[in-house]
Amino acid sequence: MPQITTRRFLQTTGLMLAGLVLAACGKKEPEAPAAAPASAPPMAAASAPPPAAKVYVVGTDAAYAPFESQNEKGEIVGLTIDVVSAVAKKAGIEVKFVNTPWEGIFNALQQGDRDILASSITITDERKQTMDFTNPYFDAYQLIAVKANSKVAKFDDLKKLKVGVQTGTTGDEAVTKQQGKNSTNIKRFESTPLALKELEAGGVDAVVADNGVVINYVTNNAGAKFKTVSDKAFAPEQYGFAVKKGNAELLEKLNKGLADIKADGSYDQIYAKYFGAAPAAAASAPAPAASK
Ligand code: ARG
Repeated sequence: MPQITTRRFLQTTGLMLAGLVLAACGKKEPEAPAAAPASAPPMAAASAPPPAAKVYVVGTDAAYAPFESQNEKGEIVGLTIDVVSAVAKKAGIEVKFVNTPWEGIFNALQQGDRDILASSITITDERKQTMDFTNPYFDAYQLIAVKANSKVAKFDDLKKLKVGVQTGTTGDEAVTKQQGKNSTNIKRFESTPLALKELEAGGVDAVVADNGVVINYVTNNAGAKFKTVSDKAFAPEQYGFAVKKGNAELLEKLNKGLADIKADGSYDQIYAKYFGAAPAAAASAPAPAASK
């Protein structure tokens, strides 16, 4: 008995025969309809819904404007989101963004709850051991935020101060390396805006986080009276999209899409939408050290 007709057969012959039929078929109906064999009645193919295209679930910690954040309507928006959407369109894949707390984000990829992570994630050698990254889509570096009247002038000045960071970020890594992992002066927060709010409240002396996010916050919260301090001691960073280790097929699609949007100017358009200039003049902040 051709499998494609199993359902109709059951419908017309009743459940009494179900066991017998299933035993004869040896397996369940396939989820996607196979091409109907020549002998199958035409109705059998028509009654099965067309196969649903795979929707890739993209995890993002949407508390990171202007890269990924939630607008008043609760929609996830930002540069990262626009880049992924444009890449997906080029790659011919469908994506869906799911707000995913930073602290669980890598685990969610590992567990298969997310197919792609797009969350301003810096490509690091350590992370490369457990996940695969696309080519970079954005250049970044760490930037220090302090109160406008602070004497902090360089990263070294933070050694003995209370510093706020987002847990497990490259900012956390830089400060942990400086102060030592047992330092009680490092205050870790679940989001970067929370760390910056604590700076405003006076609970920490400085925050170390990605330049784009710090500048965005300082610009939009003039009342907080912050200033930023840059230091070439911070290594240049690059954001990439992460996929599960070994998912070469998806990685290739994303890289191809990324190359396409860089080639046809749509990446530059997205960049200008958020930073108002070509990538070279990023965020009106000093460019990261050219070497290192
Ligand atoms: N670029 C930094 C890192 O990879 C921070 C990224 C945080 N992203 C976020 N959406 N919270 O560690």
